[in-house]
Amino acid sequence: MDISDKLEWGPLATFVPNKKLPVYNWLYFKEGFSRELVFNLLDKFKPSRVLDPFCGSGTTLLACKEKGVPSVGTDQLPIARLASRVKTGDWDPEKLREVLAGLTKVKFRRIPYQGPFKRFFQKNVLEDVLLFKEEISKVAPPERDFLLLALTSTAMRISWAWKDGNVLKVKKHPVPPFRKFFMRRAKRMIKEAVAFQGTGKTEVAESLKSVGGKTVDAVITSPPYLNQIDYSRVYSIEDWLIDESSEGQQYLGPESEGKYFHDMGSVLKELFRVCKSGAWVGIVVGNAYFPQEDRIVESDLKLAELGEKADFKAKEILVLNKRHALQRRTIKRGELRESLIILKKE
Ligand SMILES: C[S@@+](CC[C@H](N)C(=O)[O-])C[C@H]1O[C@@H](n2cnc3c(N)ncnc32)[C@H](O)[C@@H]1O
Repeated sequence: MDISDKLEWGPLATFVPNKKLPVYNWLYFKEGFSRELVFNLLDKFKPSRVLDPFCGSGTTLLACKEKGVPSVGTDQLPIARLASRVKTGDWDPEKLREVLAGLTKVKFRRIPYQGPFKRFFQKNVLEDVLLFKEEISKVAPPERDFLLLALTSTAMRISWAWKDGNVLKVKKHPVPPFRKFFMRRAKRMIKEAVAFQGTGKTEVAESLKSVGGKTVDAVITSPPYLNQIDYSRVYSIEDWLIDESSEGQQYLGPESEGKYFHDMGSVLKELFRVCKSGAWVGIVVGNAYFPQEDRIVESDLKLAELGEKADFKAKEILVLNKRHALQRRTIKRGELRESLIILKKE
């Protein structure tokens, strides 16, 4: 199998380019990749239906919608599923404006809160966020989901939460007025929803198991990286704001190396099941470094191998980014790759 550099695609393996894009930026999702990466893979694979089993903030689904390609996604994280559904939804702007206007009339009253998320917000702001959350819960779906995403992304923008790798820290700073910020954001989202051009039918499925056999001819995805993020922890404030919790569920990534590759092996077998013959699979993944043991794990090679075990043909590995494996944040101990693995069901 061929390993070659494709470093010009490196910036596309990050969420940064999406930050300026309407709809794509409705939720800041640091671990996401960019629309252009999906566009490039759609050009390469020319699929008629795409799957993203780790759809996160919905980049793959939204890019497919924009290009008129049907797609299906799954994700274990509640806020990821909500964001993917809302971003790819077909919205009636009149209805959205009507429910939003209802919220402008909400009189302020105190919603006391003494729980664990208190430390991430200024007290008055949090009470108002919770009041809006209560009012939004009275709105019927799907408009409720739209407003919940607007509320969650606004609340995170003005919170004191600071995501430092796998840890949620508190960084206090002056905060803008919540209601004004929320209304502005919700109105902007409505405008962008109206302007968004895309005809691909999208679906957010319950789980990978619920996706039918031989129903897709491309998979475009990025799984959690080994030893990086515990999604249920890093997105616990967002999940709390949408009234869902995924604590206790099995997330890939933070667990042991053995379990990670065992689980990814099962995912690859599932992908083989849902792929039609001739289907292409593109997986973006980063290698891991365990500083205590001073050991690098080449996840890209390992996943390509597991792909072959699942009966795919490993075609190539394109290296998108290279960085140093650092011990105690400064001592260089080798090179870590972030790669795009290309598999094919022949
Ligand atoms: C690297 S992110 C994907 C980001 C996505 N490409 C985007 O642009 O937003 C990996 C995703 O895998 C999800 N995940 C972690 N463990 C999972 C599991 N066991 N089953 C399904 N999804 C899982 C996380 O919630 C996260 O959204």
